[in-house]
Amino acid sequence: MNGFYGMIGNSPEMQKVYKDIEIAAKADIPVLIQGETGTGKELASRAIHECSNRINAAFIPVNCAAIPRELAESELFGHERGAFTSAHRDRKGKIELANKGSIFLDEIGDMDIFSQAKLLRVLEEGTITRVGSEKSICINTRVISATNKQLADKIQKKTFREDLYYRLATFQIYLPPLKERRSDIPFLAEHFLSKARDQFKRDVATVHPMAMNRLIEYAWPGNVREFKNVITRAVISCKGSSITLDDISISLPYLDQIKPNTSVLQDPVWLSFSNETSLNEMEKEAIRKMLGNNQGNKRRTAEALGIGRSSLYWKLKKYRLS
Ligand SMILES: Nc1ncnc2c1ncn2[C@@H]1O[C@H](COP(=O)(O)OP(=O)(O)OP(=O)(O)O)[C@@H](O)[C@H]1O
Ligand SMILES: [Mg+2]
Repeated sequence: MNGFYGMIGNSPEMQKVYKDIEIAAKADIPVLIQGETGTGKELASRAIHECSNRINAAFIPVNCAAIPRELAESELFGHERGAFTSAHRDRKGKIELANKGSIFLDEIGDMDIFSQAKLLRVLEEGTITRVGSEKSICINTRVISATNKQLADKIQKKTFREDLYYRLATFQIYLPPLKERRSDIPFLAEHFLSKARDQFKRDVATVHPMAMNRLIEYAWPGNVREFKNVITRAVISCKGSSITLDDISISLPYLDQIKPNTSVLQDPVWLSFSNETSLNEMEKEAIRKMLGNNQGNKRRTAEALGIGRSSLYWKLKKYRLS
């Protein structure tokens, strides 16, 4: 399955993304792609370029967060020989290199305010001037930018120019987090499994249903990037032909992101026991309700109750709940 320009997932949310990419590609207007980390913003930006009439010209990615402020101007607009001490020869900037093609301004939210002003002028005038030169050069490039930051907050704090925002965001594409399109997970699993299988020459063919449930339940704060890493690790550590729960290791910093359903504890109704209710009965009722609230999932029930899984099993037996 090659998906849409390498993007896997057929959920209604992703179908909307593909439609938006096609509209943006044809319209040849600036596009701002927003979404959490690892949701596929870079893939989407390449898809826009490949889907557009500019496909035979260059696609130039620029990581705005990685350019030191003092080098930004020369990096984006180029320089003439002798413009500064280390400028030994003329050099085209990224925008000029993207002439007739597309420039991808990644992490645009991290561009310094000085470069933002310069970029705005380029977008308004359609020309660039290399550092140390008087001559302006007409450019025809499509600007695609991306950010995982809330630009609205930055605009409010005056660290991002509102006028630049409107220039860049003529068309906007939003990439939904993985937890909001869980139906894509089995397809992504198959995709990354087959890639890792080929790369590491393993005979792993499937994901065991229990392991798949775990993959579907998890919140994936690192989105598809995190998902890909987990599947790759699972393929490497897998001993048989099927990935089991034991092969799935979700990195520690994210473990607390699994949100067990604890709402039952906030619901005062279940606590309305009479004076005669024993502690055992309360405990039994709490476990019963929490199990129901977590669709019988014992791991999540144990987490929500704040007890270990073996304690839960012991109590389930004690109260004859299983
Ligand atoms: N829908 C998808 N199908 C297949 N692979 C995907 C998909 N979305 C993301 N990926 C893969 O996940 C990884 C992260 O994607 P990408 O770099 O595009 O994310 P991003 O949104 O730019 O993240 P960041 O904000 O951290 O830069 C890449 O390896 C990419 O190939
Ligand atoms: Mg990115």
